[in-house]
Amino acid sequence: MTAAAATDWDNIRSRFPILENKTYLNSCAYGALSTDVMASLQAYINDRLEKGTDWAYWVERNESVRTAVANFLGATTNEIAVTASASAGINSIASALQFDEGRKKVVISDFEFPTNAQIWYAQERRGANVVRVPQKDGYIPLEHFENAIDEDTLIVAVTQVCFRNGARLDIPGIVELARKKGALVLVDGYQGLGTLEFDVKTVQPDFVVGGMLKYLLGTAGIGYLYVRDALIESLVPTVTGWFAQADIMAMDSTQYTPSSSARRFEMGTPPVPNCYAAEAGLAILAEIGMEAIASRVSDISSAIIVEAKMAGYTLSVPEDSDRRGPMVTLKTHDEFKLVGELDNVSVVTSSRNGNLRISPHFYNNHNDVDALFRALRPLKHLMV
Ligand SMILES: Cc1ncc(COP(=O)(O)O)c(C=O)c1O
Repeated sequence: MTAAAATDWDNIRSRFPILENKTYLNSCAYGALSTDVMASLQAYINDRLEKGTDWAYWVERNESVRTAVANFLGATTNEIAVTASASAGINSIASALQFDEGRKKVVISDFEFPTNAQIWYAQERRGANVVRVPQKDGYIPLEHFENAIDEDTLIVAVTQVCFRNGARLDIPGIVELARKKGALVLVDGYQGLGTLEFDVKTVQPDFVVGGMLKYLLGTAGIGYLYVRDALIESLVPTVTGWFAQADIMAMDSTQYTPSSSARRFEMGTPPVPNCYAAEAGLAILAEIGMEAIASRVSDISSAIIVEAKMAGYTLSVPEDSDRRGPMVTLKTHDEFKLVGELDNVSVVTSSRNGNLRISPHFYNNHNDVDALFRALRPLKHLMV
């Protein structure tokens, strides 16, 4: 029997109370709140009352998240930093890179979430030369990256899945191209990880960033950064703080001594309440297993595509399952009206760039797909 067949999806679904009242298909924006995460936030309050200012205990919560993220990515705890956001992780890496001599090029793509473009453009003041790889018809073929990555490329910083149309880049292919030219690779996994199988030791990126509020089921205000172990000690962030030091509790105000682990990419006081929620969210993914989750999400997103085509709607996401993540996007004439009308009948979606974003997770089922398409029927005039 496969892991997917053994999973009791109805039982798991009952741990996400919002699904009783809404057809929730907006995990690309915020994952559904589980009873597990609710209990973890209550546990934080109980622990505050019981433990008061026990900082060793609060720091331990941050360390637990490092280990949970490491298990999730196939990394070691030493390779993980817990951050306040994906932006914080990217900024920390950018601050450790030198652009004034040697390689200067930063390769990004048309698919980036703004933060993974803006932070690199900010480095142009420090000598970086940002090159954006163009899309063609809603996708970016590997050849476009091949044209951009060369011996002057310091880092290729790309999203795994585009937040605008759901297209998924060929990350293993990009890593291979970058390796050949001696360039580093940073993957923004925010829109894919938690729904796709991904192991850093297999794919071998240098850096991965993401956050806990979408497919990782935790909360806003916490993210993670993976840094490949061989690189850690060669990178000295100039954006830093006391939680990045070798000995946090040394309280040494006379020097900067970064940790020998990826904790050197952390900054100030950890987001303790968010650590509770993040750990509970990651525990659900670990309990079900990524193989079963990936197959379930792929089954539901494929069903959405089949229904959309039958209804005569126009896909914005590539149809090929190798070229898309969890999100299905459909072209609309008025994205805001459409999302609003769907919301009026308790179908929760979102939109970007004229696309309706439908983003299932493992807790969705085929009834949700039916409910969505029933709700879309009287709104056909808004669909392209
Ligand atoms: C691909 C991607 N990257 C990054 C972010 C957010 O980054 P941050 O954690 O810095 O707010 C999002 C949020 O929607 C996203 O979709």
